[in-house]
Amino acid sequence: MESASAYRPDALISNDINAYLDRHQHKTLLRFITCGSVDDGKSTLIGRLLYDSKMIFEDQLATLEADSKRIGTQGQEIDFALLVDGLAAEREQGITIDVAYRFFSTEKRKFIVADTPGHEQYTRNMVTGASTADLAVILVDARKGVLTQTRRHSYLAHLVGIRDVVLAVNKMDLVGYDEGIFDQIVSDYRGFAQSIGVTAFTPIPISGFKGDNITVSSLNMPWYTGPTLIDYLEHVEVDRQSRQAQPFRMPVQWVNRPDLDFRGFAGLIASGGVRPGDPIRVLPSGKISSVARIVTQDGDLDEAVAGQSVTLTFTDELDCSRGAVIAAADAPPQSADQFEATIVWMADEEMLPGRPYWLKSGAQTVSAIVQPPKYQINVNTMEQLAAKTLALNAIGVANFSTDRPLVFEPYVENRTLGSFIMIDKFTNATVGAGVIRFALRRAQNIHWQAVEIDRHAHAEQKLQSPKLLWFTGLSGSGKSTIANLVEKALYVRGKHSFLLDGDNVRHGLSRDLGFTDADRVENIRRVGEVAKLMVEAGLFALTAFISPFRAERRMVRDLMPDGEFIEIFVDTPLEVAEQRDVKGLYRKARAGELGNFTGIDSPYEPPHTPDIHIETERMTPEEAAEFIVAKVLGE
Ligand code: ADX
Repeated sequence: MESASAYRPDALISNDINAYLDRHQHKTLLRFITCGSVDDGKSTLIGRLLYDSKMIFEDQLATLEADSKRIGTQGQEIDFALLVDGLAAEREQGITIDVAYRFFSTEKRKFIVADTPGHEQYTRNMVTGASTADLAVILVDARKGVLTQTRRHSYLAHLVGIRDVVLAVNKMDLVGYDEGIFDQIVSDYRGFAQSIGVTAFTPIPISGFKGDNITVSSLNMPWYTGPTLIDYLEHVEVDRQSRQAQPFRMPVQWVNRPDLDFRGFAGLIASGGVRPGDPIRVLPSGKISSVARIVTQDGDLDEAVAGQSVTLTFTDELDCSRGAVIAAADAPPQSADQFEATIVWMADEEMLPGRPYWLKSGAQTVSAIVQPPKYQINVNTMEQLAAKTLALNAIGVANFSTDRPLVFEPYVENRTLGSFIMIDKFTNATVGAGVIRFALRRAQNIHWQAVEIDRHAHAEQKLQSPKLLWFTGLSGSGKSTIANLVEKALYVRGKHSFLLDGDNVRHGLSRDLGFTDADRVENIRRVGEVAKLMVEAGLFALTAFISPFRAERRMVRDLMPDGEFIEIFVDTPLEVAEQRDVKGLYRKARAGELGNFTGIDSPYEPPHTPDIHIETERMTPEEAAEFIVAKVLGE
């Protein structure tokens, strides 16, 4: 084992502290991830890197930690990917996705290594760690060759946009430093790598335990003439170079306070560069102006490039708020409201197609509905499998539609503008992460057809103010009974209406759906859209569905103009509904003959603040109906 003194900066520190600090400051930073199962010697390798590079002086450690904090808060040095934003939020909620980050530095560079567990149940951890990495070191045990984990890790690294891969064939000492074994592994890996689109990788034979080819070329493997691992890590061109060559894009993180003497727009430059005078376009509005100043804490700049945080001012007064993207005027990114994405699911509860989630991409937040996956990917075999949803750690491809256009670029072109996280609207937990593949053509080709007889004309002709009366409650709570009475009462008052009832709709429109959470979500989505059309046709639409989830009731409310969605909670305690058991279904459910029954083994989330609350134990159905009609018609 070679001494690592060449990397010890202590001589420089004691001789010329300023020179040392200066050098340290201007070192570039490489973020990488190590992958491999415990047996591949990952911990030994990381220990070796830390040991051989001898970064552990208290003061340095402090500097590096301070650096990392600065990165976290200001995104100064690097593209601090979105995932981490979301996951930081998650940490505040007490849910952690463990990724250990370690810092070390050599004469030439600073490094941050993300160390994540290798097993399949930690897929989301690996994706998190990899999402901010420039490079992946994929460890293979020379005795075992390319394994399932090797393939999975390579696929995930590629998925999150890592384009630089080191295939570290470890434990060469245990196979007698045999060149043939190394060559065989490299050739096996090449075959696989091509199949997932990894075109280039750098194979290095090492022994983490003995120190071969870590910092010093191994005398035990004279047949290997390539770089040592540290050599490679120190000299590899970080992707930033290529990001700088791309067109200028900067998502706006915040807008300066109006009490400051200028209106500036701050953010981290995601790609390209900018100079005063450059024409820019603000998206999604499409407004054009040009850059007046590039402001930083250390004064104005003549130029700023990808990876720098700056504040821009324009020559014109522009409306540009948080979430907008400032781009080169002649090469703006796309914006679309439907696209295909690859998603990694990160929550214990499975993904619910049809349910709206918050989709956060950079500083943009939109509401998005995901379609059932086109397929799920078996991350061990790369097979595409049919799937109705995605469970924890599953990866799949699906279409999304958003309520507003999202400014984006395909992930392969721009990691910042092409990635997003998904957030549960009620718990605020991060439930998934995704990368955008492309916008759907149909998003551009389907336009709203303006109709002349619009919702107002329909309503006026019928002399009424249409509304959607949304009844929700347990099975057997009395929704249908009360809704029927309400419809009759409206009818005798000359009102035009239509009642959609759960049991009936499930014989037709929703015949293909059962009672899993996912099917219920889809059922309510369909009913919501149909009811909305009915209201637009000028009718009082009444719906009687259990509609057990707050999220979907909320979604339907959001489909409607304010005041037109009236949530009516038909509140009957479970014991009472069960005792009545009009259809005999509770008995069957208790006997285990009917699964997923609401209230028994499937949840019901009562409304917190319904527009109308009917306690069926306190009034008869007739009284309830009169009460509702009076309220709805304002009598
Ligand atoms: S919802 O959850 O999707 O809103 P919906 O109101 O359409 O349900 O259908 C509920 C009706 O289906 C119940 O009133 C009951 O008659 C019948 N049903 C059959 N199986 C179930 C089940 N597992 N859970 C609830 N209702 C069921």
